Amino acid sequence: MTSFELDNHLPADFLAASLRRDVLVGLTADPKVLPPKWFYDEHGSALFERITELPEYYPTRTERAILAERAGQIAQITGAGTLVELGAGSAAKTRLLLSALRAGGTLHRYLPVDVSLATLVETGEALSREYDGLVVHAVAADFEHHLDRMPEATGPALTAFLGGTIGNFEPASRAAFLAEVRAGMTPGDWFLLGTDLVKDPAVLVPAYDDAAGVTAAFNRNVLYVINRELKADFEPDQFGHLAIWDAEQEWIEMRLQSDRDQEVRVEELDLTVQFAGGEQMRTEISAKFRRDGVQRELADAGFGLWKWWTDPADQFAVSLSRAE
Ligand code: SAH
Ligand code: AVI
Repeated sequence: MTSFELDNHLPADFLAASLRRDVLVGLTADPKVLPPKWFYDEHGSALFERITELPEYYPTRTERAILAERAGQIAQITGAGTLVELGAGSAAKTRLLLSALRAGGTLHRYLPVDVSLATLVETGEALSREYDGLVVHAVAADFEHHLDRMPEATGPALTAFLGGTIGNFEPASRAAFLAEVRAGMTPGDWFLLGTDLVKDPAVLVPAYDDAAGVTAAFNRNVLYVINRELKADFEPDQFGHLAIWDAEQEWIEMRLQSDRDQEVRVEELDLTVQFAGGEQMRTEISAKFRRDGVQRELADAGFGLWKWWTDPADQFAVSLSRAE
């Protein structure tokens, strides 16, 4: 028997208001900046899936290998009755966890959360068909705003936040986010976190600037989203894609660089913005981590680090921690 239900906390007016605010603030800031969550319309989500298969983009396959090795242990340690997944996307790697937890006989509910409604519905429906008897309760929500509206998790709950998406937060928002995740948990619940690790920029930079130009298209996609949603007239091919390693902050910064002096009109905001030739606008940070930092940030949020698993080359880490 299959079971799929959907809670939608993203009415059109929330998304529209939130995009309008982000674009207004971001395009009038100096330097200009846009938050990464707006990459993920249907096309952007499809581009992200292509990124995960690129030879240069090691995080997905590395995390998958760690999960393949550890899923049985995760099921045994947590005995989770509910799996909550933040930013689930296509949940490709999650199947490793779902299978192990089902084999362990404990899992009865899966709650994927994502801001991309189309991906969420497609993923949720597919999983409810694939896992007989699993209740899939999908939540369309912004995990920066709506974690207090999650359905109640029964049985020991395991919350997974995979892919290194935690690295896309600014450090201050990251602390607030982890505290919110912890606030929704009961002591003894579990948190499974994927973090990409600091490594040689010769490996990091190509992962964000691939030879086939898929990441460049993903980066420019945010301009198409703004054009469509806010009646803007960005010419995306007039912006170059940049991926820069910031050795001090230990993050990759994606930027869009204006090819020339140009004016952009955002009709819905009644806003006209000037870009100088060579001007750069930040569209994403992707922070890379070290074990000490992850452990400290988890502890600050009320989690005790239980397990730290990496691949043989120490490229990526999956940590399991317990709500204290
Ligand atoms: N977990 C998957 C997907 C990572 S891509 C993996 O490891 O491959 C990041 C996902 O987070 C996308 O599906 C995107 O739609 C979602 N996302 C980004 N910002 C979000 C936000 N603020 N709230 C909810 N989901 C968000
Ligand atoms: C979703 N997130 C972890 C990806 C990352 O690696 O920061 C998004 C991405 N940006 C460029 N490539 C992939």
